[in-house]
Amino acid sequence: MSSRSELRPGSLAPAAKLSAGKTSVLIGRGLLAGVPLPERGALLYDAGLPDSWSAALPALEQRLAVPAGEQAKTLAVYEQVLRRLADWALPRGAELLAVGGGCTTDLAGFVAATYLRGVALRLIPTTLLAMVDAAVGGKTALNLPEGKNLVGAFWPPEAVYIDPLLLSTLPEAAFKDGQVEMFKHGLLDGAAWPGRFFSPEDVASEQLERAITASVTFKAGVVARDPQERSGLRAQLNLGHTLGHALEAWSGHRLSHGQAVALGLHFMALLSEALGGSGVASETAALLRWLRPPLLCPPELAPLLPWMARDKKADLQGLRFTLLRAPGQPYLERVPQGLLASTYAAFLRSSAQLGLV
Ligand SMILES: NC(=O)c1ccc[n+]([C@@H]2O[C@H](COP(=O)([O-])OP(=O)(O)OC[C@H]3O[C@@H](n4cnc5c(N)ncnc54)[C@H](O)[C@@H]3O)[C@@H](O)[C@H]2O)c1
Repeated sequence: MSSRSELRPGSLAPAAKLSAGKTSVLIGRGLLAGVPLPERGALLYDAGLPDSWSAALPALEQRLAVPAGEQAKTLAVYEQVLRRLADWALPRGAELLAVGGGCTTDLAGFVAATYLRGVALRLIPTTLLAMVDAAVGGKTALNLPEGKNLVGAFWPPEAVYIDPLLLSTLPEAAFKDGQVEMFKHGLLDGAAWPGRFFSPEDVASEQLERAITASVTFKAGVVARDPQERSGLRAQLNLGHTLGHALEAWSGHRLSHGQAVALGLHFMALLSEALGGSGVASETAALLRWLRPPLLCPPELAPLLPWMARDKKADLQGLRFTLLRAPGQPYLERVPQGLLASTYAAFLRSSAQLGLV
């Protein structure tokens, strides 16, 4: 990490502190060095973090690297971690501290939810997506060969420490992907979008810290009102994901999650406008112009429909979409297939006009 010298050892002076349900979220540049160590606990950290990180990780004796990326979210790795905790005889009152991307925080959350029927958890997310999304909200997950995130529990962490300086080593593609989720939060919030995109040179900037804070504040607000996804409120967080997930899967993951969601957000904007909503298509077009995802999309909607039918908002009557009446005004709507097909054609035309290939 290039900005290590800016860390303030031993101090914990967040620029912002907020609550997401029972979780305290602390945000501030340089926060990592001040994270308090548990009296008794273990550290799980992302093996994909660059070597330059090792000295900065919380100094817990009992520590275990977990595989980078989705490899962490397997039953096999889950078992290995549980057995290591048992081997250390980590007691019920102990705490797990996890440092890493969304895959590490998803795994650590499920381990914390289930080891000895539940131990306390604190998270230090290290990707932008984990900071503004995965680490905030109490959802934990493992994958099965049959599908992603099929195993999990709600297990909110006691605290999440968000230190934007940790993004200094993040590859640019991952930094961009995280900004797509921030953009989505901005559309849903209507006020939080800072109106700009950030480059890796901005990681130490106050503007990025403020934008992350706005994004986390929005997500925390939704989580506080619907902590266990019972009221349907959290479905709004799926904005752009119905088509996005389908494109991600159809492309065999050649489109990253962020790229696919960005395309899905533009489709959502056009669909919202077709149903009389006041436009956000110029904003989603700006997102695509900045991100420039490859237009890895089938020429017709039909091949995407089986993937879309797996969307968690679908019910026995069919597909439902989160749409926008205006920025900050989401609603859930069933859309006739004819309109979906014509909007998909308009989406392909619009994306081509934006220069995507
Ligand atoms: N629980 C939730 O509510 C929730 C919400 C959104 C996403 N998710 C999950 O999050 C996962 C995706 O998370 P992600 O996008 O953070 O990806 P990730 O965890 O796979 O991390 C991406 C890569 O970056 C590396 N990395 C992490 N931090 C780094 C840093 N600071 N510098 C350099 N490299 C770093 C990782 O080792 C990994 O190789 C998915 O599995 C998704 O299902 C969960």
